[in-house]
Amino acid sequence: MTEIPEHLLARTKARKKDLGLGGDDAPAAGGAGGGDAGGNAPVAAAAAAPAPKPSPLDKVPAIVDPEPEPTPPEPHYITAAKERKRMPVFAMLLVATVPIWAMFYAGTMQAPPAGESIFTEAEVLYSEIGCAGCHGAGGAGGIGYKLSDGEVVATFPEPIDMIVHIARGSNAIDGEAYGDPNRDGGQRISGARGGGMPGHANLTVHDLELIVLHERVTLAGEDTSSEAYQAWIEELEAHSNEANVGDHIDDLLACADPAYTPGATNSAEEFKVGDFVCPGPHGHAGDEVAAGE
Ligand code: HEC
Repeated sequence: MTEIPEHLLARTKARKKDLGLGGDDAPAAGGAGGGDAGGNAPVAAAAAAPAPKPSPLDKVPAIVDPEPEPTPPEPHYITAAKERKRMPVFAMLLVATVPIWAMFYAGTMQAPPAGESIFTEAEVLYSEIGCAGCHGAGGAGGIGYKLSDGEVVATFPEPIDMIVHIARGSNAIDGEAYGDPNRDGGQRISGARGGGMPGHANLTVHDLELIVLHERVTLAGEDTSSEAYQAWIEELEAHSNEANVGDHIDDLLACADPAYTPGATNSAEEFKVGDFVCPGPHGHAGDEVAAGE
């Protein structure tokens, strides 16, 4: 046990006296009791202190409007989302109509029926105009000559002479020779077959060209591979001369060859007679076929 120095004990005693706690009964020296008394002293001192008792209210947080919490800075991705340009409502409505539009649009995207081309159109004309009635749907002949199996190409090596013959009909040249002078079986003589063929002056140049194309290519099997022939087909696909053939008999005669067509003048220059463009290939397609090309 340690000895408490005398001067410290004296000071404690004096202090107790000051506070009115007596304290003279405190053991004067040493011992655990002395220690206890010493330990209690500050507690008692605090209780007796004039300091205001802490109110239990102190522990209740003051009821004051709390400062508005400073809003924490927005995360960058929220800011980005807010600043991002948005689709306007009307655009959303437009987008919503896309499937409806697509349905209608899909309906318009029909591929042309297979085989629909100027050749299909030509075949229809051949029947509608009545050629098939006299020459057969397949061109095998009837009242009129057989056209298939190269027969019509043998008569008319060039389409232009054939065009003139159909346009004005056989009665216009009754008794005259027409077609290839060197044809197998001899040159044709108009009217030799009995009844003549009517003229077709009311056809447009385009329609007559299509019919001639049909008879020569589809029915008679003419070779179309020459450049001139291909250019003619492309021209027929791209443009149509709606002029009436009856109004252009003289022009047609200027385009045709007198050796094959009675009354022809072969006076067209560069396949043109004024503004009139000669129908048919602008080259010797028939000669090429005759030469076996
Ligand atoms: C009323 C019947 C009849 C109709 C319709 C008819 N033809 Fe003819 N066609 C004939 C006859 C008959 C001949 C022979 C003419 C002759 O002998 O003068 C002939 C001759 C031809 C020739 C010459 C053939 C050859 O080798 O000599 C061709 C080409 C021809 N016709 C094409 C046509 C075309 C194209 C049409 C339709 C636009 C047509 N014909 C409509 C009766 C007809």
